Amino acid sequence: MKHLTLPVHVFALFAVCYGQQHCCYPDQYDLRESETGWNYGPVGGVSSYRGSRHVVYDFVHKKLAIEERTDSGGVRQYYKMIYDYPEGAHYLIMGTDCFKTKLTGDMKQHCIPGQASHVGSYVYGAGDSGVLVDAFLFQVKGNVTSHREVTRAGCLPVRELHTHLEPDDKTISMQSFTYENVTTTVEDPSVFTPPVPPCPPRHQFTQDVQDPELLQWIEKTKREQRISDPPRL
Ligand SMILES: *[C@@H]1O[C@H](CO)[C@@H](O)[C@H](O)[C@H]1NC(C)=O
Ligand SMILES: *[C@@H]1O[C@H](CO)[C@@H](O)[C@H](O)[C@H]1NC(C)=O
Repeated sequence: MKHLTLPVHVFALFAVCYGQQHCCYPDQYDLRESETGWNYGPVGGVSSYRGSRHVVYDFVHKKLAIEERTDSGGVRQYYKMIYDYPEGAHYLIMGTDCFKTKLTGDMKQHCIPGQASHVGSYVYGAGDSGVLVDAFLFQVKGNVTSHREVTRAGCLPVRELHTHLEPDDKTISMQSFTYENVTTTVEDPSVFTPPVPPCPPRHQFTQDVQDPELLQWIEKTKREQRISDPPRL
Protein backbone atom coordinates (compact mmCIF):
# COMPACT_ATOMS: atom_id res chain seq x y z
CA MET A 1 0.00 0.00 0.00
CA LYS A 2 2.78 2.39 0.93
CA HIS A 3 4.15 2.05 -2.53
CA LEU A 4 0.88 3.21 -3.98
CA THR A 5 0.21 6.21 -1.75
CA LEU A 6 3.60 7.80 -2.12
CA PRO A 7 3.36 8.51 -5.85
CA VAL A 8 -0.10 10.04 -5.34
CA HIS A 9 1.31 12.54 -2.86
CA VAL A 10 4.19 13.32 -5.13
CA PHE A 11 1.78 13.88 -7.96
CA ALA A 12 -0.46 16.14 -5.83
CA LEU A 13 2.56 18.24 -4.85
CA PHE A 14 3.60 18.47 -8.46
CA ALA A 15 0.07 19.54 -9.45
CA VAL A 16 0.09 22.38 -6.91
CA CYS A 17 3.47 23.61 -8.09
CA TYR A 18 2.44 23.23 -11.69
CA GLY A 19 -0.63 25.41 -11.09
CA GLN A 20 1.52 28.27 -9.79
CA GLN A 21 4.31 27.75 -12.23
CA HIS A 22 6.84 30.38 -13.22
CA CYS A 23 5.38 30.52 -16.68
CA CYS A 24 6.55 32.41 -19.75
CA TYR A 25 4.46 34.79 -21.80
CA PRO A 26 3.36 33.49 -25.20
CA ASP A 27 6.06 33.49 -27.90
CA GLN A 28 4.14 36.21 -29.71
CA TYR A 29 1.98 38.88 -28.19
CA ASP A 30 0.61 42.31 -28.88
CA LEU A 31 -0.76 44.41 -26.04
CA ARG A 32 -1.51 47.89 -24.72
CA GLU A 33 0.15 48.81 -21.47
CA SER A 34 -1.02 51.73 -19.33
CA GLU A 35 1.40 53.09 -16.79
CA THR A 36 0.87 55.45 -13.89
CA GLY A 37 3.86 56.52 -11.84
CA TRP A 38 4.22 58.40 -8.58
CA ASN A 39 7.23 59.79 -6.74
CA TYR A 40 7.06 60.75 -3.07
CA GLY A 41 9.98 62.46 -1.46
CA PRO A 42 11.00 65.11 1.07
CA VAL A 43 12.39 67.12 -1.83
CA GLY A 44 9.90 67.84 -4.56
CA GLY A 45 6.84 66.41 -2.80
CA VAL A 46 4.59 64.26 -4.93
CA SER A 47 4.74 64.06 -8.67
CA SER A 48 3.02 61.77 -11.08
CA TYR A 49 2.90 60.90 -14.73
CA ARG A 50 0.89 58.74 -17.06
CA GLY A 51 1.97 56.81 -20.08
CA SER A 52 0.77 54.19 -22.47
CA ARG A 53 2.68 51.71 -24.57
CA HIS A 54 1.98 49.49 -27.46
CA VAL A 55 4.18 46.43 -27.06
CA VAL A 56 4.67 43.86 -29.80
CA TYR A 57 6.84 40.89 -28.85
CA ASP A 58 7.95 38.19 -31.24
CA PHE A 59 10.18 35.55 -29.68
CA VAL A 60 9.83 33.40 -32.82
CA HIS A 61 11.55 36.00 -35.01
CA LYS A 62 13.42 37.58 -32.07
CA LYS A 63 12.03 41.08 -32.37
CA LEU A 64 10.41 43.55 -30.01
CA ALA A 65 8.76 46.89 -30.71
CA ILE A 66 7.61 49.38 -28.08
CA GLU A 67 5.75 52.57 -28.87
CA GLU A 68 5.29 54.88 -25.92
CA ARG A 69 3.28 58.00 -25.24
CA THR A 70 3.64 59.80 -21.92
CA ASP A 71 1.99 62.79 -20.31
CA SER A 72 3.81 64.41 -17.42
CA GLY A 73 2.18 67.61 -16.23
CA GLY A 74 0.89 68.37 -19.72
CA VAL A 75 4.19 67.57 -21.42
CA ARG A 76 3.47 64.88 -23.94
CA GLN A 77 6.13 62.71 -25.47
CA TYR A 78 6.25 59.96 -28.05
CA TYR A 79 8.96 57.51 -28.80
CA LYS A 80 9.42 54.13 -30.37
CA MET A 81 12.02 51.44 -29.88
CA ILE A 82 12.70 48.48 -32.13
CA TYR A 83 14.87 45.60 -30.96
CA ASP A 84 15.98 43.50 -33.92
CA TYR A 85 18.12 40.65 -32.57
CA PRO A 86 18.86 38.89 -35.90
CA GLU A 87 20.14 42.20 -37.29
CA GLY A 88 21.85 43.05 -33.99
CA ALA A 89 20.31 46.52 -34.09
CA HIS A 90 18.30 48.72 -31.77
CA TYR A 91 16.43 51.74 -33.06
CA LEU A 92 15.13 54.61 -30.99
CA ILE A 93 12.84 57.06 -32.70
CA MET A 94 12.08 60.32 -30.88
CA GLY A 95 10.33 63.05 -32.74
CA THR A 96 12.14 63.42 -36.04
CA ASP A 97 15.32 61.99 -34.51
CA CYS A 98 16.39 58.43 -35.00
CA PHE A 99 19.19 56.63 -33.19
CA LYS A 100 20.65 53.29 -34.12
CA THR A 101 22.78 51.31 -31.69
CA LYS A 102 24.18 47.82 -31.49
CA LEU A 103 22.14 45.09 -29.89
CA THR A 104 24.25 42.20 -28.63
CA GLY A 105 23.35 38.98 -26.88
CA ASP A 106 20.32 36.77 -27.22
CA MET A 107 16.75 37.90 -26.82
CA LYS A 108 15.41 37.00 -23.39
CA GLN A 109 12.11 35.24 -23.18
CA HIS A 110 9.60 37.16 -21.06
CA CYS A 111 8.91 34.96 -18.04
CA ILE A 112 8.09 35.00 -14.35
CA PRO A 113 11.63 34.80 -12.91
CA GLY A 114 12.67 31.61 -11.16
CA GLN A 115 13.23 33.39 -7.82
CA ALA A 116 9.71 34.87 -7.79
CA SER A 117 7.45 33.76 -4.96
CA HIS A 118 3.82 33.01 -5.61
CA VAL A 119 1.83 35.27 -3.28
CA GLY A 120 -1.73 34.37 -4.16
CA SER A 121 -4.35 33.66 -6.78
CA TYR A 122 -7.73 35.18 -7.46
CA VAL A 123 -10.51 35.12 -10.00
CA TYR A 124 -10.70 38.25 -12.12
CA GLY A 125 -14.23 38.91 -13.37
CA ALA A 126 -17.23 36.82 -12.44
CA GLY A 127 -19.05 33.61 -13.26
CA ASP A 128 -18.15 31.72 -16.40
CA SER A 129 -16.13 34.60 -17.77
CA GLY A 130 -13.92 34.75 -14.64
CA VAL A 131 -10.22 34.28 -15.24
CA LEU A 132 -7.87 32.70 -12.71
CA VAL A 133 -4.91 34.97 -12.02
CA ASP A 134 -1.65 34.20 -10.17
CA ALA A 135 0.32 36.91 -8.39
CA PHE A 136 4.09 36.78 -7.95
CA LEU A 137 6.56 38.91 -6.03
CA PHE A 138 10.21 39.35 -6.95
CA GLN A 139 13.12 41.78 -6.91
CA VAL A 140 14.33 43.38 -10.08
CA LYS A 141 17.64 45.16 -10.39
CA GLY A 142 18.06 48.55 -8.73
CA ASN A 143 16.09 47.68 -5.57
CA VAL A 144 12.79 47.55 -7.37
CA THR A 145 10.18 45.14 -6.05
CA SER A 146 7.78 43.83 -8.62
CA HIS A 147 4.32 42.43 -7.97
CA ARG A 148 3.24 40.79 -11.23
CA GLU A 149 -0.06 39.14 -12.06
CA VAL A 150 -0.61 36.75 -14.96
CA THR A 151 -3.48 34.54 -16.04
CA ARG A 152 -3.05 30.89 -15.06
CA ALA A 153 -4.24 29.84 -18.52
CA GLY A 154 -1.89 31.14 -21.17
CA CYS A 155 0.34 33.22 -18.86
CA LEU A 156 -0.98 36.55 -20.14
CA PRO A 157 -0.01 39.72 -18.25
CA VAL A 158 -2.82 41.35 -16.25
CA ARG A 159 -1.10 44.00 -14.15
CA GLU A 160 2.13 44.81 -12.38
CA LEU A 161 3.25 47.14 -9.61
CA HIS A 162 6.84 48.31 -9.14
CA THR A 163 7.97 49.94 -5.92
CA HIS A 164 11.35 51.45 -5.35
CA LEU A 165 12.79 53.02 -2.22
CA GLU A 166 15.82 55.25 -2.59
CA PRO A 167 17.44 54.98 0.86
CA ASP A 168 19.68 58.02 0.42
CA ASP A 169 17.14 60.72 -0.33
CA LYS A 170 14.16 58.81 1.15
CA THR A 171 12.23 58.88 -2.09
CA ILE A 172 9.65 56.26 -2.89
CA SER A 173 8.59 55.71 -6.44
CA MET A 174 5.86 53.44 -7.71
CA GLN A 175 4.75 52.43 -11.15
CA SER A 176 1.54 50.65 -11.86
CA PHE A 177 1.04 48.87 -15.18
CA THR A 178 -2.17 47.42 -16.53
CA TYR A 179 -2.47 45.42 -19.72
CA GLU A 180 -5.30 45.51 -22.21
CA ASN A 181 -6.23 44.05 -25.56
CA VAL A 182 -3.72 41.25 -25.29
CA THR A 183 -3.51 39.05 -28.36
CA THR A 184 -1.14 36.15 -28.93
CA THR A 185 -0.24 37.01 -32.51
CA VAL A 186 1.70 39.76 -34.21
CA GLU A 187 -1.10 41.52 -36.05
CA ASP A 188 1.09 43.92 -38.01
CA PRO A 189 4.75 42.88 -38.50
CA SER A 190 5.49 46.30 -40.04
CA VAL A 191 6.00 47.61 -36.48
CA PHE A 192 9.43 45.98 -36.71
CA THR A 193 10.40 47.69 -39.95
CA PRO A 194 13.46 49.90 -39.44
CA PRO A 195 12.95 53.61 -40.09
CA VAL A 196 12.97 54.76 -43.72
CA PRO A 197 15.09 56.75 -44.48
CA PRO A 198 17.62 55.21 -42.07
CA CYS A 199 18.92 57.00 -38.99
CA PRO A 200 21.47 59.69 -39.96
CA PRO A 201 25.10 58.49 -39.74
CA ARG A 202 25.85 60.85 -36.82
CA HIS A 203 23.13 59.00 -34.88
CA GLN A 204 24.48 55.53 -35.55
CA PHE A 205 26.46 54.28 -32.59
CA THR A 206 28.78 51.34 -32.24
CA GLN A 207 28.02 51.00 -28.52
CA ASP A 208 25.65 48.37 -27.28
CA VAL A 209 22.22 49.66 -26.30
CA GLN A 210 22.98 48.52 -22.72
CA ASP A 211 26.06 50.76 -22.52
CA PRO A 212 25.45 52.86 -19.36
CA GLU A 213 26.87 56.06 -20.81
CA LEU A 214 24.78 55.76 -23.92
CA LEU A 215 21.67 54.96 -21.86
CA GLN A 216 22.28 58.05 -19.74
CA TRP A 217 22.69 60.19 -22.81
CA ILE A 218 19.49 58.78 -24.32
CA GLU A 219 17.53 59.38 -21.09
CA LYS A 220 18.77 62.96 -21.01
CA THR A 221 17.92 63.53 -24.66
CA LYS A 222 14.48 62.01 -24.08
CA ARG A 223 13.78 64.40 -21.20
CA GLU A 224 14.72 67.32 -23.38
CA GLN A 225 12.30 66.33 -26.10
CA ARG A 226 9.00 68.14 -26.18
CA ILE A 227 7.08 66.19 -28.73
CA SER A 228 3.33 65.90 -28.83
CA ASP A 229 2.87 63.87 -31.97
CA PRO A 230 4.53 60.87 -33.54
CA PRO A 231 6.83 61.85 -36.37
CA ARG A 232 6.15 61.03 -39.98
CA LEU A 233 8.96 58.78 -41.07
C1 LIG B 1 19.83 49.17 -2.86
O1 LIG B 1 19.64 49.54 -1.51
C2 LIG B 1 20.81 49.44 -0.71
C3 LIG B 1 20.47 49.83 0.71
O2 LIG B 1 19.19 49.41 1.07
C4 LIG B 1 21.90 50.37 -1.27
O3 LIG B 1 23.09 50.19 -0.53
C5 LIG B 1 22.16 50.03 -2.73
O4 LIG B 1 23.06 50.96 -3.27
C6 LIG B 1 20.86 50.05 -3.52
N1 LIG B 1 21.12 49.63 -4.88
C7 LIG B 1 20.65 50.31 -5.93
C8 LIG B 1 21.06 49.77 -7.26
O5 LIG B 1 19.92 51.29 -5.84
C1 LIG C 1 -8.78 47.90 -27.10
O1 LIG C 1 -9.74 47.32 -27.95
C2 LIG C 1 -10.97 48.01 -28.00
C3 LIG C 1 -11.94 47.20 -28.83
O2 LIG C 1 -11.36 46.82 -30.04
C4 LIG C 1 -10.73 49.41 -28.56
O3 LIG C 1 -11.94 50.13 -28.61
C5 LIG C 1 -9.72 50.13 -27.68
O4 LIG C 1 -9.43 51.39 -28.24
C6 LIG C 1 -8.46 49.31 -27.54
N1 LIG C 1 -7.59 49.96 -26.56
C7 LIG C 1 -6.43 50.49 -26.89
C8 LIG C 1 -5.67 51.13 -25.79
O5 LIG C 1 -5.97 50.43 -28.02
